Amino acid sequence: MFSINPFDLPPRDAYRLMISAIVPRPIAWVSSIGKNGSLNLAPFSFFNGIGGNPPTLMISVGLRKGQPKDTLRNVQENGEFVVNMVSEALGPQMSLTAGEYDYEVDEFALAGLTPASCDLIKPPRVGEAAVAMECRATQFVQVTGTTYTVIFGQILCYHIKDGLLRPDGLIDADAMRPLARLGGDQYATLQPVFELKRPA
Ligand SMILES: Cc1cc2nc3c(=O)[nH]c(=O)nc-3n(C[C@H](O)[C@H](O)[C@H](O)COP(=O)(O)O)c2cc1C
Repeated sequence: MFSINPFDLPPRDAYRLMISAIVPRPIAWVSSIGKNGSLNLAPFSFFNGIGGNPPTLMISVGLRKGQPKDTLRNVQENGEFVVNMVSEALGPQMSLTAGEYDYEVDEFALAGLTPASCDLIKPPRVGEAAVAMECRATQFVQVTGTTYTVIFGQILCYHIKDGLLRPDGLIDADAMRPLARLGGDQYATLQPVFELKRPA
C-alpha cells in the first residue's frame, strides 16, 4: 500500500488518477439546443441521480479553453436538456460526440443519430437511446476551487424503449446494456445482474 497526495500531481495526472479510481461511472449523453436552434450532444460521466422525489440528477461540466462547453451554455440559456442513456451498441457514436467541435456543429448529424421530439421541452432526445429523460435545470453550482459547474435538473418525462420496463416497475438493466466509463479511454459493460437483499 502507498499514498498519493493529489495536490503533488500535475492537474492532468490528478484528474486521470481520480477518474480511474471512481469507477464505474454512468454516462449522461446530454442533448441540448442553442438560442439559434443549433443542436448539441455530448457525454458526461460526472453524472448521477441525487434524489428520488422529485427525481433529480446532476451533471458536472468543465470549461474548455476557459469558456463554458456548449452543453452548459445551452442549458444556462434555456434551462432544458435531455439525459440519454448509452447502451453498448451506441458506444462508438457516443465517443464521436465527445469531440471538441465548434458551437454550430450538430453532433446528431455528425454521428448519424436521429433527433426525436420530446413531450415537454425543446431539445430533441436521441431516438436510438433505450432510455431518455427530459430535464429542467433547477440549479447551477460553480464548484469552489474548480473549473466545474454542476447542473442540477429535475426529470420531467422518461422515454423508454418497448420491452425494457419490467412488470415490477424497474428498467431491465440486462436488456438495456448500459455502458460505463472507467479511467482513460476505458469502458465497461454489465455482467449478468444479481440481487443482494438488505437487512430488514
Ligand atoms: C465518456 C465521456 C465522459 C465525459 N465526461 C465529462 C464530464 O463529466 N464533464 C466534462 O466537462 N466533460 C466530460 N467529457 C468531455 C466532453 O464530452 C467534451 O468536452 C465535449 O466536447 C463537450 O461537448 P460540448 O461542448 O458540446 O458540451 C466526457 C467525455 C467522454 C467521452
